[in-house]
Amino acid sequence: MLQSVSRKVGPGRLGNSVRIGANIFENDIWRKISTSSRKHTVMPAWVIDRYGNNSMLRFTKDYLFPIIHYPNEVMIKVHAVSLNPIDISMRNGYGATALKMKRDPLNMKAAGSEFPLILGRDVSGVIMETGLNVSHFKPGDEVWAAVPPWKAGTLAEFVVASANEVAHKPKALSHRQAAALPYVALTVWSALVNTGGLKKDNCRGKRVLILGGSGGIGTFAIQLLKAWGAHVTTTCAENSFSFLKDLGADHVIDYKAQNVEKQLNDLEMFDFILDNVGGHTEDWALNLLKPWSGATYVTLVTPFMLNTDRLGVADGVVRSGITFGSKVLKHLSKGIHYRWALFAPSGPSLDEVTELVDEGKIRSVVEKVFPFLEVPKAFLKLEGGHARGKTVIDRSGE
Ligand SMILES: NC(=O)c1ccc[n+]([C@@H]2O[C@H](COP(=O)([O-])OP(=O)(O)OC[C@H]3O[C@@H](n4cnc5c(N)ncnc54)[C@H](OP(=O)(O)O)[C@@H]3O)[C@@H](O)[C@H]2O)c1
Repeated sequence: MLQSVSRKVGPGRLGNSVRIGANIFENDIWRKISTSSRKHTVMPAWVIDRYGNNSMLRFTKDYLFPIIHYPNEVMIKVHAVSLNPIDISMRNGYGATALKMKRDPLNMKAAGSEFPLILGRDVSGVIMETGLNVSHFKPGDEVWAAVPPWKAGTLAEFVVASANEVAHKPKALSHRQAAALPYVALTVWSALVNTGGLKKDNCRGKRVLILGGSGGIGTFAIQLLKAWGAHVTTTCAENSFSFLKDLGADHVIDYKAQNVEKQLNDLEMFDFILDNVGGHTEDWALNLLKPWSGATYVTLVTPFMLNTDRLGVADGVVRSGITFGSKVLKHLSKGIHYRWALFAPSGPSLDEVTELVDEGKIRSVVEKVFPFLEVPKAFLKLEGGHARGKTVIDRSGE
C-alpha cells in the first residue's frame, strides 16, 4: 500500500517564521529560502476581490508567488484544474464565515481578509519544491490533490498544499484527466468509506442506490462501488441512461418520471443510499432502505455551512448538531443509520484511488475542457447545470 511507505510529513509548524528549508526543483539542492527572496516574484492567477456572480472573477498576472511556510508542505506547478459546485458556491460567499476561521493568517494577503481569493480545489501537476520534512515526494514528481476550501485555490500557476493532501498521480491519466477526480473521489471516499463504513471487502452483493448519478460525484461513486462488487442503482435524466450504464450502473431510473418513487419502491430494498441531490429526497428515500439490517443513508447535501453563514459559527454549529442529532434518532428508531458527509482532503485515500485507476477499474469522466484564460466560461458551464462528468481547465497551453 502506497500510503504506508514513507509519508513522513509531520506537522512541524515553525511558529510565525516563514523561513524554512525547501528542496527546490530548479536547483535540485537543499537550501534555505526566505520571503525576502520571493517577495517580488509574481504568478498568473484567477482571483475574486469580493463575493458575487461570475463577473467577480478577475485574471491577474501579479499574484504574489506562494511560499512554503511549513516543513510538511509542497509546492505544485499546476497543469490542470477541474471545477466543482463548491467553486460556484464559494464565489458566491458560501461557507465564508466558517472558512475564514480556518484560514491561515500567513496566507492572507491583507490582515484579516481572505481577498484576493483564488478559487479551485482540484489540481494535477508537478512538484516544484518540498518542505524539509517531506520525503514521500521529490521535485519533478507528477501529483494530484484536492486542496481544502480554507486554503488558497488551484486556479493559478502554483499552489502550496500539505504533503498529506497530495498523492502521486495515476500513470494512466494525463493531467487534464487526473484533475477531474480528486475532489469528487475524496468526497465519495469520505461518504462511503469514512462515514458509511463501506470498503473493498464488504461491498460485494450490497444493493446501493445513488441519487444523482450523472455529475462528478455520481460518475465516480458508480465506478468505485462497481469496482468493489456492489449492485448499483442510480437516478439521472433519461439522456444519461447509456452513459451511466457504460460506467457500470446496473439499473438506471429517470428522476423526472412521474412515478420515480414508485419505480424505486417496486425494487428490492437497498442496503445503502448515497444522496447527492438533497432537498425533498429525504422525505421518501429512507423508506427504500432495509430496516434493522445496518442499512445506511449518507447525504452530501447538508445545511452545515448555510447555518454557519446565517447564524455565525457557534450558533450554526449548534443548530446543525441539533438538526443532525434529531434526524439520527428519528431514523434509528426505524432501524436506519442516517449520516451527513463532507469532503475530506487525504493523500492516502488518493493513493488508493490511484491504484484503482492504474488497474483500469476507474476512469476519469471529462465532459468539457477550457483553456486557463477562459476560466469564467468554465464557471458558466458548470453553473448551467446538467453536468455529465467534469469541467476541466487545462494550463498546458500557457
Ligand atoms: N458535502 C460535501 O462536502 C460535498 C462535496 C462535493 C459535492 N457535494 C454536493 O453533491 C452534489 C453533487 O455534486 P457534483 O459535483 O456531482 O455536481 P455536478 O457535477 O454539478 O452534478 C450534478 C448532477 O446531478 C444531476 N441532477 C440534478 N438534479 C437531479 C435529481 N433531482 N436527481 C438526479 N440527478 C439530478 C445533474 O444533471 P441533470 O440536471 O441534467 O439531471 C448533474 O448531472 C452537489 O449538491 C454538491 O454541492 C457535497
